Amino acid sequence: MNIVLIGMPGSGKSTVGRLLSQRLGMPLVDTDALVEAAANRSIPELFAAEGEAAFRDRETAAVRAASALEDTVIATGGGVVLRSENMRALSGTGLVFFRDRAVEDIMGEDHSGRPLVGGDRERILQLYTQRIDLYRKYARYTISGTKTAEEAADRIATIYL
Ligand code: S3P
Repeated sequence: MNIVLIGMPGSGKSTVGRLLSQRLGMPLVDTDALVEAAANRSIPELFAAEGEAAFRDRETAAVRAASALEDTVIATGGGVVLRSENMRALSGTGLVFFRDRAVEDIMGEDHSGRPLVGGDRERILQLYTQRIDLYRKYARYTISGTKTAEEAADRIATIYL
């Protein structure tokens, strides 16, 4: 059974994923990294060259590949919930966790390299408002009220084991 992490850009999916991977001795894959490796380009380059729709197709291919893995921690891009087929694939082989981190904390993160966000407070709020229902709908467990990545990883590990 995989562990699947969903949530907003800057909600700590990669950090929590690394901690879980270390703690549970499970490999970690990141769908953004899979997209970049397959395209041999960075995400900002892909958005600039091909636009969001082409990125979403690449993301769906990465999600399919990740979903075929076993006993792996899968960190996803923040927009993975925009396609139900992504979430069908991921939840078919994994337990989906949503880290519902406070928007104020998300705003404090470095969003350079995130073409859809760009660090703009209004934009983060807008994305959060658009997506919150999707994150909640697709998560088997919502992890809220955790201040640190360590606390979030602790809770997820306890539920998973
Ligand atoms: C996106 C989030 C990014 C990345 C891409 C689009 C989004 O991943 O997939 O820039 O739509 O929220 P992170 O959530 O890891 O930043």
